[in-house]
Amino acid sequence: MDATTLKATKCFVRQYSDQAFQCFESRRKKIMKLLESKNCPDEAWKDEEIEVFLHEIAMMDSNNFLGSCGVGERESRFASQIVARRHYYMGHGIGRSGDITEIQPKAAGSSLIGQLSNCMILNLLKSIGLPSLKKCIIVPLATGMSMLLCLRTLHSSRPGAKYVIWPRLDQKSCFKCILASGLVPRIIKNVDTGKGLIGCVEDIEKEIECLGPDNVVCVLSTVSSFAPKVPDNVVDIAQICKKYNVPHVVNNAYGIQCPTYLELIEQASKSRVDLFVSSTDKNFMVPVGGSLICGFDSKIVDEVGKMYPGRGSASPSIDLLITLLNIGKKGYLELLDKRKKMFIYLKNELEKVSQEFGGEVLETSENQLSVAFVFSQFGSLHHKFFTEIGSMLFSKFVMGARIVAPGDSKTVGDYTFINWGSHMDESSIGYLTASATIGVKKEDIDIFIKHFRTILLKVSKHINQKIICEVYKTK
Ligand SMILES: Cc1ncc(COP(=O)(O)O)c(C=O)c1O
Repeated sequence: MDATTLKATKCFVRQYSDQAFQCFESRRKKIMKLLESKNCPDEAWKDEEIEVFLHEIAMMDSNNFLGSCGVGERESRFASQIVARRHYYMGHGIGRSGDITEIQPKAAGSSLIGQLSNCMILNLLKSIGLPSLKKCIIVPLATGMSMLLCLRTLHSSRPGAKYVIWPRLDQKSCFKCILASGLVPRIIKNVDTGKGLIGCVEDIEKEIECLGPDNVVCVLSTVSSFAPKVPDNVVDIAQICKKYNVPHVVNNAYGIQCPTYLELIEQASKSRVDLFVSSTDKNFMVPVGGSLICGFDSKIVDEVGKMYPGRGSASPSIDLLITLLNIGKKGYLELLDKRKKMFIYLKNELEKVSQEFGGEVLETSENQLSVAFVFSQFGSLHHKFFTEIGSMLFSKFVMGARIVAPGDSKTVGDYTFINWGSHMDESSIGYLTASATIGVKKEDIDIFIKHFRTILLKVSKHINQKIICEVYKTK
């Protein structure tokens, strides 16, 4: 190589190494900003940026140290490279045997993900309706199991208590969590406010007085629920809990996507909300397996973390971290905004169906996620008639629409719920509930409405020809 070529090559290399340095530096700055602030970024990160970040973090776990040797019984070994890749080479999980939020010395990377994702979610929640929130942990358990963990934690500080006062909500896991935690449910009837059903606040107070406040582990109220149930009056319930010094847990399974619900919880927290629980999959479109346990006093959330026995999967934290980086705060707010519009669209489309085929969209304006369409045009036919409509919808691949058929009972443990699905014993009419939750598309609603119309047309014709009436008329 002659001198001129050599000089040109050196210059070329310097130029490119400067460029590479700038490139590394800008990425490093972005990462440092995230690590320092621990906030959910406003703007979305690119896929490549997130993947590089995750790979760098993974290098902090002992299984990825150069020259590391593990002689313990759990050393984050992978027999399959597919599994290793699926987890970004992090296999230690989160937490230690004594606390799911504790840092694991062998796994600085996984621990960082656990801590960082908790901080990012807290920051997001504070900015979308819960400014007083103090702590939030991502737990590798779905909602029902997380509520069980909360109940056990509260019970440990009130060992003499055994009752959980629970306004009825016809969803099995939220009731089973009380039974599985070895506690005794006291079911509160719902009352119709004209805007939907809520747990009777007066009955909650009477129940606390009757059982004796010291015998009550907590009141377990619900915010996100299927219509015609609307959010329990958590603000008044919180005041009662404060008055009698009874803990208050709120089931907010899919209510993070609805800032109005968060504001209700925030308002209730001024009196008393010890903990609330929300699902990660239902609110953030990640796979099932995680939930958020949140509180307005860090201490109680820390106690829940200590109650968790053993280590846990890091997957829910990793998935949430990736999602928050990938969409940013702005992206999440856009999703919430779209969802809200889709909910109005769903309601309007069902109104149109009711004008065409009869039936009515129930007035449950306080429920901003789910809507109930009452089959009043069919009167009180046998419940099989209504479940048949459900099967027809299912056969058209309409998922998630629930058919509530009068006369259906369900036994959970030793407890029988009459007119299961309707949240109350006294229900004589069939209805369908549908939801517009985060990520729902206009096409989903259009296709659902199209199939619903076809099915209603079919059954209405049969009714007119008295075919169905003979088979399904009530006894
Ligand atoms: C109101 C409510 N609570 C609790 C649960 C249970 O959630 P998971 O399946 O995450 O335990 C659900 C699930 O649909 C729900 O709708």
